Amino acid sequence: MDAALGYNLEVEKIKREIEEALGAVVGTSVELAVPEKLAHGDYTTNVALQMFSQMHSADGGPSHPRDFVARRSAAADQHNAEDGSVSAVRARGKPSASSASDTSIFAGITSPRGLAEKIVEEVSRGGKVKHYIKDIQIAGPGFINFYLSDEALQEGLGRMGESFGRSDLGKGKTVLVEYSSPNIAKRFGIGHLRSTVIGQALRNLLEDTGHTTIGENHLGDWGTQFGMILAQIDRKALNEEVETLSVEDLETLYVEFNDCADKDEELRELAKEWFKKLEAGDSEARRMFEAVHKTSMSEFDTLYDLLDIHIENSHGESFYEDKMDVVIAEARKKGISKRSQGAEIVEFDDMPPAMLLKSDGTTTYFTRDLAAIKYRLKTYKPNLIIYEVGSDQILHFKQVFAAAKMLGWGRMTDFVHMAHGLIRFPEGKMSTRLGRTVNLQDVLDKAIKKARELGSENEEVAKMVGIGALKYFDLKHKPTSEIVFSWDEILALDGNSGPYLQYTYARTQSVLHKSGVAQADLASFKVPEDSTNERDLIRYLYRYPGAIMAAQQNYSPNLLCNYLFELAQLFNSFYNAEKIIGSGEEKLRLSVTAAVGQTLKNGLSLLGISTPEKM
Ligand code: ARG
Repeated sequence: MDAALGYNLEVEKIKREIEEALGAVVGTSVELAVPEKLAHGDYTTNVALQMFSQMHSADGGPSHPRDFVARRSAAADQHNAEDGSVSAVRARGKPSASSASDTSIFAGITSPRGLAEKIVEEVSRGGKVKHYIKDIQIAGPGFINFYLSDEALQEGLGRMGESFGRSDLGKGKTVLVEYSSPNIAKRFGIGHLRSTVIGQALRNLLEDTGHTTIGENHLGDWGTQFGMILAQIDRKALNEEVETLSVEDLETLYVEFNDCADKDEELRELAKEWFKKLEAGDSEARRMFEAVHKTSMSEFDTLYDLLDIHIENSHGESFYEDKMDVVIAEARKKGISKRSQGAEIVEFDDMPPAMLLKSDGTTTYFTRDLAAIKYRLKTYKPNLIIYEVGSDQILHFKQVFAAAKMLGWGRMTDFVHMAHGLIRFPEGKMSTRLGRTVNLQDVLDKAIKKARELGSENEEVAKMVGIGALKYFDLKHKPTSEIVFSWDEILALDGNSGPYLQYTYARTQSVLHKSGVAQADLASFKVPEDSTNERDLIRYLYRYPGAIMAAQQNYSPNLLCNYLFELAQLFNSFYNAEKIIGSGEEKLRLSVTAAVGQTLKNGLSLLGISTPEKM
């Protein structure tokens, strides 16, 4: 087995053993969290607080501690406002039945701190965790903080190399990630940037944790709006020169048509007819549609190249055109669809109905999504399908997943809609012309230009910095939160930004370059004494595989961003405080520097961000 894999699991192994020891004492599963500040230890738990409040809950009155229900919370993202500790208790199973004889060990305890003390006493008594733990402290109202032993840290040192962080936790699992999915005949708007960037990062995280991934681009290339474009091309007699129309031209045609169709019933009918022709395979409609498709794809491909995005399967909605009949037939046969005012719908208990067929007999976005699921399950046999699509489509995906379940295609847990928040622009700064979306190419050009102004003279570096800045800004936000676009924040060299992390990486490389040391050789060092900067950096590096796992399991690349930003800050204060080259500790310090550089590089690469050697 790869040493790096061993290391990753080793981190989990130590964590799990402490969790087990704690669980045996309190009688329910406990999940340790990682405190934000190193001063609060390497792991922490609020189990005593949870347990105490359950024992003294107002409704139930004092009860046996084993009956407490542990609260679920996202591990690494929550922190206790009072002392900054991250804490979470997670119920992994049902608390075991209480037995009278056990009650005594917690009897007469009057505060959460007292309870914490008792838990610590019991955990230490077994001697089981001694090996891994240097110290256990009780903090604040009753947090229990664990500090890793030299031995545990030492074990990690040798593995902080190139494959640091990688694991095989997801071995044997195939995950299909659908992301990007822009609409043809429209320019790639900034609205699709989040899906593209987050989707790629999720895939990278899944791959790094041993999953097999499949990428799908569900292009919007079908539906009545193409009837409008074709109708307008025809009205303007551009039929013979469709190939020469740029995406911008197509967008203009669409907007023009819409403006007129607003007040013109006949035009709307014309668009419907053109779409019907397209669905019926009319050769002229088909030819024009394909030309439009080709033009759009080549523009998207240019952007994907620039953004370093690789989606191997591009099955747009049109691909499912001939795969919907069987879905409709299956829905009828299984009795889940019903006629309603000429249309055919699927009803749900707790949601509005979804339309399978419109009254004019054409299919819908919903129908195509069902056909896509059927195709994907059959073709790739994935264990999970993740849809990286904006939060404005939450209802749509709930309906699609529920219908798939009604069709007997899987459980609700086989599908995840990673609904990202939308990008907002501060008033006036960047207006969306005519209500159209902000064009991504324009934003990328501007990002690169601004990176040049930051001082990246080399064009390649300016690209890496500009694009990296944009990607990082997107990724550092929790996917679900709405984000407000800000150039100042995107490019801030002294804040939580892509350029800051790239700059820190380049700094590690420049130190190493000067010294002639290229590789981390931490294995040959003894873990340094308490509270040295080096020890803190090693403790922080030790958290990297855990950060990857948390980011992957919560589908939250922002957790990795947080980690990398903290690491960079820690390194920069070390760099400012200590002389590296020429000091008595030169070798150790260089080695720590190399490990930080390697880890920043590994982490940024998972986020899809390049790391120039010089900036
Ligand atoms: N093209 C759609 C849009 O831009 C997104 C597609 C999302 N994926 C899906 N399977 N429906 O809104």
